[in-house]
Amino acid sequence: MTSQSLLPHKVTLVTGASSGIGAAAARVFAREGARVVLAARREDRLAALAAELTALGAEASYVVTDVTRPDDARRAVEFAVERYGRLDAAFNNAGIGGDRTPMHLMGDDVYDTIMDINVRGVWNCLRHEISAMLETGGGTIVNNSSVAGLVAIPAAAPYVAAKHAVIGLTRAAADEYAKQGIRVNAVAPGTTRSEITADWFDRNPGLEQMVNGMTPQGRTAAPEEIAEAAAWLLSDRSPFLTGVVMPVDGGFVNQ
Ligand SMILES: NC(=O)c1ccc[n+]([C@@H]2O[C@H](COP(=O)([O-])OP(=O)(O)OC[C@H]3O[C@@H](n4cnc5c(N)ncnc54)[C@H](O)[C@@H]3O)[C@@H](O)[C@H]2O)c1
Repeated sequence: MTSQSLLPHKVTLVTGASSGIGAAAARVFAREGARVVLAARREDRLAALAAELTALGAEASYVVTDVTRPDDARRAVEFAVERYGRLDAAFNNAGIGGDRTPMHLMGDDVYDTIMDINVRGVWNCLRHEISAMLETGGGTIVNNSSVAGLVAIPAAAPYVAAKHAVIGLTRAAADEYAKQGIRVNAVAPGTTRSEITADWFDRNPGLEQMVNGMTPQGRTAAPEEIAEAAAWLLSDRSPFLTGVVMPVDGGFVNQ
């Protein structure tokens, strides 16, 4: 940590921290001085990441969490507060991609699963995070939406609907709690190299080239590029930003 660090000592919860953007965020936040609490379902991965960050001199701990379970979301926040006395920041990142299938062929179960994880999961965490932050006079929250929260992407209707809903929750929370010192923003990543996209690209030959062709910068993002934007939005360097959705997408939604 340096005097220029973005998140000095900030107790920061990261959901979906076991891989992809969440794991990259944990590393970036820890480098920026945060005390990170890693929350996801896979304990082996959380333990390995917490050990990696601790070995680098950071403060990191983990709590096994399924964000679809309200009790798990409450426990994750309680864990942070019991361990560090407060919750300053949270990155609600856990989510799944789901099938890429035309809408009329998609199973109802796909819709339910995506809504449960990508929307109810954010809802569950957000409410407990806000409660904790109200106890200490405020905090910052970033929800991970997607460019699919701003525009349609093909053959992913439940995902598009879910990520639009995440922006709705972001705006509602930002509006409700602005006077109590809580800022709530969202990042909207473009296609980012992670387990979600590896699975999509494996199952859909040619999709990666198509996505690159649709992106002005002509490439996908590294998970760290999303994490850097989230770190800044969570930090005290963006004090007048709330209810904002920041595309981090190589120009995709600007076209
Ligand atoms: N990769 C992309 O192109 C992209 C683009 C836009 C938005 N996003 C969003 O970024 C977020 C992270 O995805 P990623 O790309 O890093 O993929 P990823 O699969 O590597 O990471 C998703 C993480 O969420 C966790 N998770 C899933 N369901 C969970 C649950 N019920 N409880 C707790 N944790 C759960 C997974 O275990 C994993 O740690 C997601 O919300 C995704 O929708 C990704």
